[in-house]
Amino acid sequence: MTAHQLQPSRRVAERLRHNDESLVDFVCGGIVLSDRASRGEYPDKAGPQIEASLAELGAVKVLPVQVVPDDAKALLRAIDELVREGAQLVVTSGGTGLGPKDITPETLLELGGKTVPGFGEVMRAKGTAYTPTSYLSRSVAVVHGETLIVAMPGNPKAVAECFEAIAPMLPHALATMLKGS
Ligand code: MTE
Repeated sequence: MTAHQLQPSRRVAERLRHNDESLVDFVCGGIVLSDRASRGEYPDKAGPQIEASLAELGAVKVLPVQVVPDDAKALLRAIDELVREGAQLVVTSGGTGLGPKDITPETLLELGGKTVPGFGEVMRAKGTAYTPTSYLSRSVAVVHGETLIVAMPGNPKAVAECFEAIAPMLPHALATMLKGS
């Protein structure tokens, strides 16, 4: 067999180039929205879950998770900071429900980038395997410049479940978003 024949097919080469099943190539960050955790009234558990789920998916370039109050300006500031640090994926946790302080989806939509409805759809649909209330989350995903932002519920267990739901499409979404950049 010649060296030429050992070359992977174009499809395989493409897959390897983008490392389609892993987040190893991507700079990732997380934001937790919680008034009480941001005031230090209880230890944040969603942030460590975001980090653990990212690591399970192969992420090695992970920026420190930011814990902010349930406030649009604080969320936008945290996003700006992570974007400036080069984040290509930002996962938020919290503020997707119906409470008066739940402002995450509308704040992300106000950024004005592409929305990716499939992320919210699959998180809600797969979440019903765990809880009938999964459809109460208004989770969204948006493309903000060269950063994909995915909003998940606040419960750490929900974060793990939502990562499981989107894992099969996350690396491909990032590779597609960054094509040509
Ligand atoms: N999705 C999954 N997979 N697992 C959960 O435990 N909790 C639900 C829902 N989605 C949940 C879930 C509940 S009880 C609420 S109120 C909403 O997410 C919104 O949560 P948030 O306000 O913390 O964002």
